[in-house]
Amino acid sequence: MKVLITGGMGVNGAVTARLMVQDGLRPVLFDNRMDLTLMGDIKEKVDLVVGDVCDQAALEKIVDEYKITHIAHLAALMPEPAEADPRLGIKVGVDGTVNVLEVARAKNIKRVVFTSSKAAYGEIGGEYAPPTCKPVREDFPKRPADLYGSIKVCCEEVGRYYRETYGIEFIALRFVSIYGPGKEARHGPLSFYGQLIEKAREGAQWIIPQGGDQLNDAVYVGDVARSVYLALKAPAPGEWTFNIGTGKAWTPREFLTAAAKLFPHHKIELGPGPSKLGRSKQSYCVFDISAAKKHLGYEPAYDVERGVRDYVATLDRLGR
Ligand SMILES: NC(=O)c1ccc[n+]([C@@H]2O[C@H](COP(=O)([O-])OP(=O)(O)OC[C@H]3O[C@@H](n4cnc5c(N)ncnc54)[C@H](O)[C@@H]3O)[C@@H](O)[C@H]2O)c1
Repeated sequence: MKVLITGGMGVNGAVTARLMVQDGLRPVLFDNRMDLTLMGDIKEKVDLVVGDVCDQAALEKIVDEYKITHIAHLAALMPEPAEADPRLGIKVGVDGTVNVLEVARAKNIKRVVFTSSKAAYGEIGGEYAPPTCKPVREDFPKRPADLYGSIKVCCEEVGRYYRETYGIEFIALRFVSIYGPGKEARHGPLSFYGQLIEKAREGAQWIIPQGGDQLNDAVYVGDVARSVYLALKAPAPGEWTFNIGTGKAWTPREFLTAAAKLFPHHKIELGPGPSKLGRSKQSYCVFDISAAKKHLGYEPAYDVERGVRDYVATLDRLGR
């Protein structure tokens, strides 16, 4: 198995690459910027290529040169930059995905794993919203509420077309909120859990008047990476879209409690109750992950306490 990871130097790409290295693989990481901040410990054990997913010829060249057999397609613009420049967001997202699929078709690559998002579902209300949090399944209606979600739905549908027309095993993983080292620097306010952990570690003052009890499924990058790796390896799963989360609702208070075990002198004050925590849309929810369990053998390994410990240990190891 020779894996190409697009967006390989990003938050999830770096952890996915580390997992593969631990398993004896040497993945090729393709990214449009050389940034080793999240991967200093594995940089000798991967191949790093700077390039743009909008450049199909560059992708083809890499696939030939490294004899790629599987692609994990992670490269994308995050919601804010995509909304600031919609044409670029769509170009990187949709054109980039078409390029990956065209290269897969031309070079007989059997499996492409695409990283989608709960943004594909849009606002999540009624009994699916907190406090009841009825688990959201893959057949939940897709009504994206922002451009990022629209791009994800479009990529999924294009992938389905290539799957049905050309037999490419396209698999889309839809993630709940993800937390992991690097996310705070990369995604700012989107990474509320990351901010809680990192500000507790820094001893920074932070007063959050409300929201400590906001229920939401949040998955650690370690589980994200494993789900990507499992989706690349699983013997032809019958399904092709999978919700990936922990299948449980967590609260910011549980994150802070876990961080406080490591940093008892933190200066964060977290008020009670629910809160949108700065978001304009209601997307807090819990994912039903039974399809991923059944077809991919996915089982989340990180509860909040273990996730927070690994987050901090990773920052320490990377010297950040
Ligand atoms: N972080 C989350 O909470 C979350 C949730 C659901 C889905 N996802 C998806 O997971 C994937 C990875 O997200 P992440 O959190 O690691 O983001 P990230 O921003 O850390 O990583 C994305 C990487 O893609 C690269 N990239 C951007 N444009 C590119 C281009 N034109 N060509 C090549 N590389 C390019 C960036 O440099 C970056 O390293 C994305 O597709 C994202 O939409 C993330």
